[in-house]
Amino acid sequence: MGPAETTSLFLLLGIIVSKGLSSPLAGKEAWDYVEVRDGAHMFWWLYYADSQSSGYMDLPLVMWLQGGPGGSGSGFGNFEEIGPLNRDLKPRKTSWVQAASVLFVDNPVGTGFSYTDRPDVYATDVATVASDMLVLLKQFFTARAEFQNVPFYIFSESYGGKMAAAISMELVKAIDQGAVKCRFAGVALGDSWISPLDSVMTWGPYLYTTSLLDDFGLADVNRAAGEVKKAVEQQQFQKATELWSITESVVEQNTNGVNFYNILTQEPDEKVRASAGEDFIALQTRRHIRPLHSQSLSELMNGPIRKKLGIIPQNVTWGGQAEEVFSKMAGDFMRPVVDIVDQLLSAGVNVTVYNGQLDLIVDTMGQEQWLRQLKWEGLTGFNRLRWTALDDPVSPGVTGAFFKTYKNFAFYWILRAGHMIPSDQGPMALQMMKMITQQA
Ligand SMILES: *[C@@H]1O[C@H](CO)[C@@H](O)[C@H](O)[C@H]1NC(C)=O
Ligand SMILES: *[C@@H]1O[C@H](CO)[C@@H](O)[C@H](O)[C@H]1NC(C)=O
Repeated sequence: MGPAETTSLFLLLGIIVSKGLSSPLAGKEAWDYVEVRDGAHMFWWLYYADSQSSGYMDLPLVMWLQGGPGGSGSGFGNFEEIGPLNRDLKPRKTSWVQAASVLFVDNPVGTGFSYTDRPDVYATDVATVASDMLVLLKQFFTARAEFQNVPFYIFSESYGGKMAAAISMELVKAIDQGAVKCRFAGVALGDSWISPLDSVMTWGPYLYTTSLLDDFGLADVNRAAGEVKKAVEQQQFQKATELWSITESVVEQNTNGVNFYNILTQEPDEKVRASAGEDFIALQTRRHIRPLHSQSLSELMNGPIRKKLGIIPQNVTWGGQAEEVFSKMAGDFMRPVVDIVDQLLSAGVNVTVYNGQLDLIVDTMGQEQWLRQLKWEGLTGFNRLRWTALDDPVSPGVTGAFFKTYKNFAFYWILRAGHMIPSDQGPMALQMMKMITQQA
């Protein structure tokens, strides 16, 4: 299938409606598939930066990776978080495209519009996820050579952070070997599943101090988390994933259904809660994959968007293979990648961690906990620094975040945000992206 390229009609209409015809023309877009392995087709969608003051060659390129595994950047990240249009196809004020070209890739294969021809082609570990992405990036930077000298950043959310770390390390090696030509400038790990055990072990204390567990609940959650710990220590990762799921059910029961993505909200839908004897993969996809595939988003992606894209094979449904993606990765899900973050830091890569204050599934306490395990020589220097407060861009005088940076590492504590930071605090997220990409 040939490359597709167009000017977004939706964006154009949106701009005409919102600002009148004197506004600049809508941004350029491109999308395509890359067959990253035999039978494994990966979909990407690029929005060229659309800024009034700079051309896209003078702005960075940001690749966005969604979580799950099985969540779609081209769908959720694009229309619910950082793309030029929201789910109602109205312009998003905090779109990242105003300050960067944004590349959404539906990975691992089977995610979003990506698809596999055969069940044996799904990725089963993060190493395969990384090598698949390297095939895509190599092709991308060859086909779009104009981006070879543009600073390239990888931003991620949730499980996307685990993939982003592994991909970044492979990318550094590929660039050193001359296999990929690009100006890799850094990786940003948002609410990232870097050390799953540290997340699970801090659920109890975090919920207890925020009035979401009583003493009995704290003991129950800690006991369940302790079982996860045993499995991880014995390297029984499939079992650890099953026990993680059980621990979530214990949290659910004791908190009357707290929302794992934002502790100030309750799981609105009884249907996502555990039912007796349910298969854990079915339960976990219901809990963590379905929320990224709401009915309205599915209708958009499988309706007007697939029609606009024009290259989606007839028998491929956006999100149709998401459950399989998650299920095939279940044996790798609870493995930490703290060592990979260490390698990135030692290699001199700019690494940023950012985390939402109200996120439970990847709570900030857990992030701080794995941070302390880094062997990186700069850690002592980082720990000696105090953080700096940042104003919320829309409410000067009100703190929107804290941040701290030392050598090639930075940490952003984003206030009043849960797991999906750009959805919850769009202006702050945009501001942070500009700071990380050295535009602010
Ligand atoms: C779509 O159809 C083709 C041709 O029949 C088949 O090879 C492929 O496996 C199908 N893909 C999916 C995702 O069902
Ligand atoms: C990493 O960030 C620093 C600023 O903190 C910057 O000077 C440096 O150029 C960045 N490195 C790369 C590879 O972009």
